[in-house]
Amino acid sequence: MVNFDVYKIREDFPILKSKVNDYPLVFLDNGATSQKPRRVIDGIKYFYENINANPMRSIHHLAEKATEAYVDAREKIAKFINASPEEIVFVRNTTEAINLVSFALPFKRGERVATTYLEHHSNILPWLKLKENGLGVDFVDVDENFDLDMDYYKEMPAETKLVTVAHESNVTGTINDVKKICSLAHSSDTLCLVDAAQSAPHMKIDVNDMGADFLAFSGHKMLGPLGIGVLYINKNVAPKLRTFMTGGEMIKSVKINKVEYADMPSFFEAGTQNVEGAYGLGLAIDYLNGVGLNNIESYEKGLMAHLYQSSKTIKDIDIYSGRSKKNGAIFAFNLKKLHPHDIAYLLDKKGIAIRSGFHCAQPFIEDKLHLEGAARASMYFYNTKEEMDAFVNGLKEIQVEYG
Ligand code: ALA
Repeated sequence: MVNFDVYKIREDFPILKSKVNDYPLVFLDNGATSQKPRRVIDGIKYFYENINANPMRSIHHLAEKATEAYVDAREKIAKFINASPEEIVFVRNTTEAINLVSFALPFKRGERVATTYLEHHSNILPWLKLKENGLGVDFVDVDENFDLDMDYYKEMPAETKLVTVAHESNVTGTINDVKKICSLAHSSDTLCLVDAAQSAPHMKIDVNDMGADFLAFSGHKMLGPLGIGVLYINKNVAPKLRTFMTGGEMIKSVKINKVEYADMPSFFEAGTQNVEGAYGLGLAIDYLNGVGLNNIESYEKGLMAHLYQSSKTIKDIDIYSGRSKKNGAIFAFNLKKLHPHDIAYLLDKKGIAIRSGFHCAQPFIEDKLHLEGAARASMYFYNTKEEMDAFVNGLKEIQVEYG
């Protein structure tokens, strides 16, 4: 690992110096959202003090600057995932990205979508909504280690128009072989959507190598501001799509009797866009590139190895993550004698932030884990081994105090 100094990195994140209930904050809820480096926080202030205007419309000085900021951000994001700028559509978040695909892909009655049991609600609900209009929805199953049933993709129903799958589960951290899934989908003439909400912050993504037709992720989970996300749409697939939302700047010409729509990506960007968000996400990507996605991935591997090793000293714990062939920086668990919400509440009293409940993945938690909820610690590259120890010790303490 070159030049990776977690303590130096932490200096860039002002919020990590916070105290919660007189304890130093240990932020382990990064699967829900990440913290922001000063570069992003200050950059947003800079945007409003120096750049703010409505891009792509007026031709005055500030409007030109805002347009340049928006275009630059798109270019950075395209490069980040090895796509072309016209393949990058700005959306609010992963949820909006997947909803967009569900509206834009012209499904015929009787066609099918294959989602999986590992998905969060964003990759389930848009398809269940279309089920009301006659779309068939299949859920690819998982084995006891939460690896997907890859055989499903080899023998899919012929009517399957789209396969949609999380790159990384937000509950178990399972990293799916999306390259293989996309390749199997393509061999049956089926499109492939990859939900990269949990993976894009942690590992290098190359959409060309992966072979995805669509890839969705959220800026706020990868150091960027809230309210900005990305939908990659492969340029060969884009011409097959319908409009999602109509309005300003997604058109070439509007006459009462004839509308000519704009090319990609404006085709999917109706109305004034979140330029501040795109600019902030561009800065977040600069920061991630500076640290290096490969460094982040290998640092987090070491962190997780440390956590799994020390978690062996915790009694009466059920761990649901780390069982698959490949796993991310997520630790989902329950303590036998405490409800997951109580675990989260009691850890918070010690300054440790985790998430508990269904994790927006109720079908997986109920149907596959047979639970009413789980506790989840989700790590990022600014977390330390000392924080992993504080978390493990915190769990042991609450077991003694309340278990
Ligand atoms: N999908 C986000 C999470 O896993 C909100 O917490």
